[in-house]
Amino acid sequence: MSQELFDKANGVLEEIKNSAPAKPEEIEQFRITYLGSKNIIKPLFAEIRNVDNDRKKEYGQLLNTLKTTAEEKLLSFKSTQSSDASQGGMKLDLTAPGESFPVGSRHPISIVLNEIIEIFTKIGFTVAEDREIEDDWHNFTAMNTPEDHPARDMQDTFYLKNSTEMLLRTHTSSVQSRVMTSQKPPIRIIAPGRVFRNETISSRSHCQFHQVEGLYVDENVSFADMKQTLLYFARSLYGKDTKIRLRPSYFPFTEPSAEMDVYWGLEDENAYRITKGTGWLEIMGCGMVDPAVLENCGIDSEKYTGFAFGMGIERQAMLKYRINDIRLLFENDLRFLQQFTTAG
Ligand code: DAH
Repeated sequence: MSQELFDKANGVLEEIKNSAPAKPEEIEQFRITYLGSKNIIKPLFAEIRNVDNDRKKEYGQLLNTLKTTAEEKLLSFKSTQSSDASQGGMKLDLTAPGESFPVGSRHPISIVLNEIIEIFTKIGFTVAEDREIEDDWHNFTAMNTPEDHPARDMQDTFYLKNSTEMLLRTHTSSVQSRVMTSQKPPIRIIAPGRVFRNETISSRSHCQFHQVEGLYVDENVSFADMKQTLLYFARSLYGKDTKIRLRPSYFPFTEPSAEMDVYWGLEDENAYRITKGTGWLEIMGCGMVDPAVLENCGIDSEKYTGFAFGMGIERQAMLKYRINDIRLLFENDLRFLQQFTTAG
Protein backbone atom coordinates (compact mmCIF):
# COMPACT_ATOMS: atom_id res chain seq x y z
CA MET A 1 0.00 0.00 0.00
CA SER A 2 2.78 2.42 0.98
CA GLN A 3 4.59 2.18 -2.32
CA GLU A 4 1.44 2.95 -4.26
CA LEU A 5 0.98 6.17 -2.32
CA PHE A 6 4.62 7.10 -2.86
CA ASP A 7 4.23 6.51 -6.60
CA LYS A 8 1.11 8.61 -6.70
CA ALA A 9 2.75 11.52 -4.81
CA ASN A 10 5.86 11.31 -7.01
CA GLY A 11 3.62 11.35 -10.09
CA VAL A 12 1.99 14.57 -8.88
CA LEU A 13 5.43 16.07 -8.18
CA GLU A 14 6.51 15.27 -11.75
CA GLU A 15 3.32 16.85 -13.04
CA ILE A 16 3.98 20.04 -11.08
CA LYS A 17 7.58 20.18 -12.22
CA ASN A 18 6.60 19.72 -15.86
CA SER A 19 3.74 22.13 -15.98
CA ALA A 20 4.32 25.42 -17.74
CA PRO A 21 1.19 27.52 -17.75
CA ALA A 22 1.60 30.74 -19.75
CA LYS A 23 -1.80 32.34 -20.05
CA PRO A 24 -3.44 33.83 -16.93
CA GLU A 25 -6.30 31.24 -17.10
CA GLU A 26 -3.77 28.40 -17.19
CA ILE A 27 -1.93 29.77 -14.18
CA GLU A 28 -5.22 30.07 -12.28
CA GLN A 29 -6.01 26.46 -13.20
CA PHE A 30 -2.62 25.40 -11.85
CA ARG A 31 -3.33 27.22 -8.58
CA ILE A 32 -6.75 25.56 -8.22
CA THR A 33 -5.38 22.09 -8.99
CA TYR A 34 -2.41 22.11 -6.65
CA LEU A 35 -3.07 24.80 -4.08
CA GLY A 36 -6.80 25.53 -4.13
CA SER A 37 -9.23 24.50 -1.36
CA LYS A 38 -9.99 21.25 -3.21
CA ASN A 39 -6.48 20.64 -4.45
CA ILE A 40 -5.26 17.16 -5.33
CA ILE A 41 -2.49 17.17 -2.71
CA LYS A 42 -4.94 17.33 0.21
CA PRO A 43 -6.31 13.77 -0.19
CA LEU A 44 -2.71 12.52 -0.22
CA PHE A 45 -2.23 14.03 3.22
CA ALA A 46 -5.30 12.12 4.40
CA GLU A 47 -3.68 8.90 3.20
CA ILE A 48 -0.80 9.26 5.64
CA ARG A 49 -2.51 6.89 8.05
CA ASN A 50 -2.23 4.13 5.48
CA VAL A 51 1.52 4.47 5.15
CA ASP A 52 3.74 2.03 6.99
CA ASN A 53 5.00 3.52 10.21
CA ASP A 54 8.65 3.39 9.23
CA ARG A 55 7.96 5.36 6.04
CA LYS A 56 5.51 7.90 7.47
CA LYS A 57 8.23 10.53 7.94
CA GLU A 58 9.53 10.08 4.40
CA TYR A 59 6.00 10.32 3.04
CA GLY A 60 5.27 13.49 5.00
CA GLN A 61 8.45 15.11 3.66
CA LEU A 62 7.50 14.16 0.13
CA LEU A 63 4.08 15.80 0.47
CA ASN A 64 5.68 18.94 1.90
CA THR A 65 8.02 19.06 -1.07
CA LEU A 66 4.98 18.74 -3.31
CA LYS A 67 3.34 21.68 -1.66
CA THR A 68 6.36 23.98 -1.60
CA THR A 69 7.25 23.10 -5.19
CA ALA A 70 3.72 24.01 -6.27
CA GLU A 71 3.92 27.29 -4.32
CA GLU A 72 7.30 28.22 -5.77
CA LYS A 73 6.16 27.36 -9.28
CA LEU A 74 3.05 29.48 -8.91
CA LEU A 75 5.09 32.46 -7.72
CA SER A 76 7.50 32.19 -10.63
CA PHE A 77 4.66 31.86 -13.17
CA LYS A 78 3.05 34.96 -11.74
CA SER A 79 6.20 37.04 -11.84
CA THR A 80 6.93 36.11 -15.48
CA GLN A 81 3.36 36.98 -16.22
CA SER A 82 3.59 40.45 -14.66
CA SER A 83 6.91 41.29 -16.33
CA ASP A 84 5.42 40.12 -19.61
CA ALA A 85 2.49 42.41 -19.01
CA SER A 86 4.85 45.33 -18.50
CA GLN A 87 6.37 44.47 -21.88
CA GLY A 88 3.01 45.05 -23.44
CA GLY A 89 2.08 41.39 -23.18
CA MET A 90 5.10 40.32 -25.20
CA LYS A 91 7.72 37.91 -23.98
CA LEU A 92 11.00 39.62 -23.22
CA ASP A 93 13.62 38.42 -25.65
CA LEU A 94 16.99 39.21 -24.13
CA THR A 95 18.81 38.08 -27.23
CA ALA A 96 17.08 40.58 -29.49
CA PRO A 97 19.36 43.33 -30.84
CA GLY A 98 19.01 46.67 -29.01
CA GLU A 99 17.02 49.49 -30.45
CA SER A 100 19.23 52.42 -31.32
CA PHE A 101 18.32 55.90 -30.17
CA PRO A 102 17.91 58.49 -32.86
CA VAL A 103 21.13 60.53 -32.83
CA GLY A 104 21.04 64.11 -34.03
CA SER A 105 23.36 65.38 -36.71
CA ARG A 106 25.30 68.59 -36.82
CA HIS A 107 24.00 71.54 -38.76
CA PRO A 108 25.91 72.02 -42.03
CA ILE A 109 26.95 75.49 -40.85
CA SER A 110 28.48 73.99 -37.70
CA ILE A 111 30.26 71.30 -39.69
CA VAL A 112 31.93 73.86 -41.98
CA LEU A 113 32.61 76.24 -39.10
CA ASN A 114 34.30 73.52 -37.07
CA GLU A 115 36.43 72.58 -40.05
CA ILE A 116 37.57 76.19 -40.48
CA ILE A 117 38.27 76.57 -36.76
CA GLU A 118 40.35 73.39 -36.80
CA ILE A 119 42.42 74.61 -39.75
CA PHE A 120 43.30 77.88 -38.02
CA THR A 121 43.82 76.53 -34.52
CA LYS A 122 46.47 74.20 -35.98
CA ILE A 123 48.60 77.24 -36.81
CA GLY A 124 48.15 79.00 -33.50
CA PHE A 125 44.95 81.01 -33.85
CA THR A 126 42.55 80.97 -30.91
CA VAL A 127 38.80 81.42 -31.06
CA ALA A 128 37.38 84.75 -29.88
CA GLU A 129 33.65 85.26 -29.55
CA ASP A 130 31.74 88.39 -28.73
CA ARG A 131 28.30 89.98 -28.65
CA GLU A 132 25.77 90.05 -31.48
CA ILE A 133 24.13 93.23 -30.18
CA GLU A 134 26.92 95.71 -30.63
CA ASP A 135 27.45 99.44 -30.34
CA ASP A 136 28.06 101.66 -33.30
CA TRP A 137 31.65 102.37 -32.29
CA HIS A 138 32.88 98.76 -32.26
CA ASN A 139 31.00 97.80 -35.41
CA PHE A 140 31.77 100.88 -37.50
CA THR A 141 33.69 103.81 -36.05
CA ALA A 142 36.62 101.87 -34.60
CA MET A 143 36.76 99.96 -37.85
CA ASN A 144 37.52 103.20 -39.66
CA THR A 145 33.95 103.67 -40.83
CA PRO A 146 32.81 106.86 -39.09
CA GLU A 147 29.31 108.23 -39.40
CA ASP A 148 28.58 109.57 -42.88
CA HIS A 149 31.28 107.36 -44.32
CA PRO A 150 29.95 106.10 -47.64
CA ALA A 151 31.09 102.57 -46.79
CA ARG A 152 28.28 102.33 -44.25
CA ASP A 153 26.01 101.90 -47.22
CA MET A 154 27.77 98.64 -48.04
CA GLN A 155 25.97 97.08 -45.10
CA ASP A 156 22.33 97.82 -44.40
CA THR A 157 22.08 97.89 -40.64
CA PHE A 158 19.40 96.82 -38.16
CA TYR A 159 19.39 99.33 -35.29
CA LEU A 160 17.69 98.59 -32.01
CA LYS A 161 14.34 100.29 -31.52
CA ASN A 162 14.69 103.99 -30.66
CA SER A 163 18.48 103.81 -30.80
CA THR A 164 21.09 105.21 -33.12
CA GLU A 165 23.79 103.72 -30.97
CA MET A 166 22.98 100.02 -30.56
CA LEU A 167 22.70 97.66 -33.49
CA LEU A 168 22.88 94.04 -34.57
CA ARG A 169 26.45 93.59 -35.74
CA THR A 170 26.73 93.65 -39.50
CA HIS A 171 30.00 91.75 -39.57
CA THR A 172 32.32 89.85 -37.25
CA SER A 173 34.89 92.60 -37.82
CA SER A 174 33.38 94.11 -34.66
CA VAL A 175 35.22 91.38 -32.74
CA GLN A 176 38.50 92.83 -34.06
CA SER A 177 37.90 96.08 -32.18
CA ARG A 178 36.69 94.19 -29.10
CA VAL A 179 39.87 92.09 -29.02
CA MET A 180 42.30 94.91 -29.89
CA THR A 181 40.92 97.17 -27.16
CA SER A 182 41.26 94.46 -24.54
CA GLN A 183 44.40 92.53 -25.52
CA LYS A 184 47.95 93.43 -26.37
CA PRO A 185 49.80 92.09 -29.43
CA PRO A 186 50.73 89.49 -30.43
CA ILE A 187 47.10 88.83 -31.32
CA ARG A 188 46.12 85.84 -33.38
CA ILE A 189 42.39 85.14 -33.33
CA ILE A 190 39.54 83.88 -35.43
CA ALA A 191 36.04 85.01 -34.58
CA PRO A 192 33.13 82.92 -35.80
CA GLY A 193 29.62 84.21 -35.34
CA ARG A 194 26.23 85.32 -36.57
CA VAL A 195 25.75 88.64 -38.31
CA PHE A 196 22.68 90.56 -39.45
CA ARG A 197 21.82 92.81 -42.38
CA ASN A 198 18.60 94.34 -43.52
CA GLU A 199 18.46 92.46 -46.79
CA THR A 200 15.56 91.02 -48.68
CA ILE A 201 15.40 87.29 -48.12
CA SER A 202 15.86 85.26 -51.28
CA SER A 203 17.51 82.01 -52.33
CA ARG A 204 20.87 83.81 -52.34
CA SER A 205 20.71 86.27 -49.45
CA HIS A 206 19.32 86.33 -45.95
CA CYS A 207 18.98 88.89 -43.16
CA GLN A 208 21.12 86.70 -40.91
CA PHE A 209 24.17 84.65 -41.75
CA HIS A 210 27.53 83.57 -40.32
CA GLN A 211 31.04 84.82 -40.79
CA VAL A 212 34.50 83.95 -39.59
CA GLU A 213 36.83 86.82 -38.97
CA GLY A 214 40.59 86.46 -38.69
CA LEU A 215 43.09 88.88 -37.16
CA TYR A 216 46.83 88.70 -36.75
CA VAL A 217 48.68 91.62 -35.18
CA ASP A 218 52.35 91.57 -34.24
CA GLU A 219 55.65 93.19 -35.12
CA ASN A 220 56.64 92.77 -38.76
CA VAL A 221 53.49 91.05 -40.01
CA SER A 222 53.52 91.37 -43.78
CA PHE A 223 51.23 90.95 -46.76
CA ALA A 224 53.28 87.86 -47.67
CA ASP A 225 52.41 86.34 -44.27
CA MET A 226 48.75 86.91 -45.05
CA LYS A 227 48.98 85.38 -48.48
CA GLN A 228 50.75 82.28 -47.19
CA THR A 229 48.27 81.86 -44.32
CA LEU A 230 45.31 82.12 -46.68
CA LEU A 231 46.90 79.72 -49.16
CA TYR A 232 47.38 77.20 -46.35
CA PHE A 233 43.74 77.72 -45.39
CA ALA A 234 42.38 77.30 -48.93
CA ARG A 235 44.44 74.15 -49.48
CA SER A 236 43.32 72.67 -46.18
CA LEU A 237 39.66 73.31 -46.94
CA TYR A 238 39.46 72.68 -50.68
CA GLY A 239 42.35 70.28 -51.36
CA LYS A 240 46.12 70.46 -51.62
CA ASP A 241 46.27 71.59 -55.25
CA THR A 242 43.91 74.52 -54.78
CA LYS A 243 44.99 77.71 -56.51
CA ILE A 244 44.19 81.14 -55.08
CA ARG A 245 44.42 84.69 -56.36
CA LEU A 246 44.19 88.05 -54.61
CA ARG A 247 42.37 90.90 -56.37
CA PRO A 248 42.69 94.51 -55.22
CA SER A 249 39.55 95.66 -53.45
CA TYR A 250 38.35 98.16 -50.89
CA PHE A 251 37.40 97.83 -47.23
CA PRO A 252 37.55 100.76 -44.80
CA PHE A 253 39.45 98.76 -42.17
CA THR A 254 42.26 97.39 -44.35
CA GLU A 255 44.89 99.04 -46.50
CA PRO A 256 45.70 97.61 -48.93
CA SER A 257 42.56 95.49 -49.25
CA ALA A 258 41.98 92.43 -51.38
CA GLU A 259 39.47 89.77 -52.22
CA MET A 260 40.60 86.20 -52.38
CA ASP A 261 39.34 83.83 -55.06
CA VAL A 262 39.90 80.10 -55.31
CA TYR A 263 40.08 78.37 -58.65
CA TRP A 264 36.94 76.26 -58.97
CA GLY A 265 37.31 75.26 -62.58
CA LEU A 266 34.81 75.25 -65.39
CA GLU A 267 34.14 71.55 -65.51
CA ASP A 268 30.38 71.58 -65.55
CA GLU A 269 27.49 73.89 -66.11
CA ASN A 270 27.15 74.57 -62.41
CA ALA A 271 30.82 75.59 -62.09
CA TYR A 272 30.30 77.85 -65.07
CA ARG A 273 27.30 79.47 -63.43
CA ILE A 274 28.71 80.02 -59.93
CA THR A 275 32.02 81.39 -61.23
CA LYS A 276 30.24 83.53 -63.82
CA GLY A 277 32.27 81.89 -66.53
CA THR A 278 35.67 82.79 -65.04
CA GLY A 279 36.44 79.59 -63.13
CA TRP A 280 37.30 81.74 -60.08
CA LEU A 281 35.15 81.94 -56.99
CA GLU A 282 35.32 84.73 -54.45
CA ILE A 283 35.80 83.38 -50.93
CA MET A 284 36.75 86.23 -48.63
CA GLY A 285 37.81 89.81 -48.08
CA CYS A 286 41.18 90.52 -46.54
CA GLY A 287 44.00 93.01 -46.21
CA MET A 288 46.54 94.70 -43.97
CA VAL A 289 44.88 96.22 -40.92
CA ASP A 290 44.60 99.96 -41.56
CA PRO A 291 46.93 101.84 -39.12
CA ALA A 292 43.95 104.04 -38.21
CA VAL A 293 42.14 100.95 -36.86
CA LEU A 294 45.15 99.99 -34.74
CA GLU A 295 45.33 103.52 -33.35
CA ASN A 296 41.57 103.65 -32.69
CA CYS A 297 42.03 100.57 -30.54
CA GLY A 298 45.09 101.84 -28.71
CA ILE A 299 47.74 99.83 -30.56
CA ASP A 300 50.93 101.57 -31.67
CA SER A 301 50.80 101.47 -35.48
CA GLU A 302 54.48 102.40 -35.74
CA LYS A 303 55.45 99.25 -33.90
CA TYR A 304 52.79 96.80 -34.99
CA THR A 305 51.24 95.70 -38.24
CA GLY A 306 48.61 93.12 -38.92
CA PHE A 307 46.41 91.37 -41.40
CA ALA A 308 42.72 90.57 -41.24
CA PHE A 309 40.22 88.59 -43.23
CA GLY A 310 36.54 87.79 -43.16
CA MET A 311 34.40 85.23 -44.94
CA GLY A 312 30.82 84.03 -45.06
CA ILE A 313 30.09 80.50 -43.89
CA GLU A 314 26.79 79.89 -45.68
CA ARG A 315 28.57 80.30 -48.98
CA GLN A 316 31.14 77.63 -48.09
CA ALA A 317 28.46 75.24 -46.82
CA MET A 318 26.37 75.76 -49.95
CA LEU A 319 29.37 75.04 -52.18
CA LYS A 320 30.42 72.01 -50.17
CA TYR A 321 26.97 70.43 -50.03
CA ARG A 322 25.56 71.81 -53.28
CA ILE A 323 22.74 73.59 -51.50
CA ASN A 324 20.97 75.94 -53.86
CA ASP A 325 18.83 77.95 -51.45
CA ILE A 326 20.27 79.75 -48.41
CA ARG A 327 16.87 79.70 -46.68
CA LEU A 328 17.17 75.95 -46.16
CA LEU A 329 19.97 76.65 -43.71
CA PHE A 330 17.65 78.59 -41.40
CA GLU A 331 14.39 76.69 -41.63
CA ASN A 332 15.35 73.80 -39.34
CA ASP A 333 13.47 71.29 -41.42
CA LEU A 334 14.61 67.90 -40.13
CA ARG A 335 14.23 66.26 -43.54
CA PHE A 336 16.92 68.66 -44.76
CA LEU A 337 19.14 68.60 -41.67
CA GLN A 338 19.22 64.81 -41.35
CA GLN A 339 21.18 64.56 -44.57
CA PHE A 340 24.38 65.90 -43.03
CA THR A 341 26.71 63.70 -41.07
CA THR A 342 29.19 64.81 -38.49
CA ALA A 343 31.92 63.11 -40.45
CA GLY A 344 31.27 65.38 -43.43
N1 DAH B 1 33.71 92.64 -42.81
C1 DAH B 1 33.71 92.41 -44.24
C2 DAH B 1 32.28 92.10 -44.70
O1 DAH B 1 31.48 91.75 -43.89
C3 DAH B 1 34.60 91.26 -44.59
C4 DAH B 1 36.04 91.58 -44.37
C5 DAH B 1 36.80 92.09 -45.39
C6 DAH B 1 36.65 91.34 -43.15
C7 DAH B 1 38.13 92.39 -45.22
C8 DAH B 1 37.99 91.61 -42.97
C9 DAH B 1 38.72 92.14 -44.01
O2 DAH B 1 38.62 91.40 -41.83
O3 DAH B 1 40.04 92.42 -43.83
O4 DAH B 1 32.02 92.22 -45.84
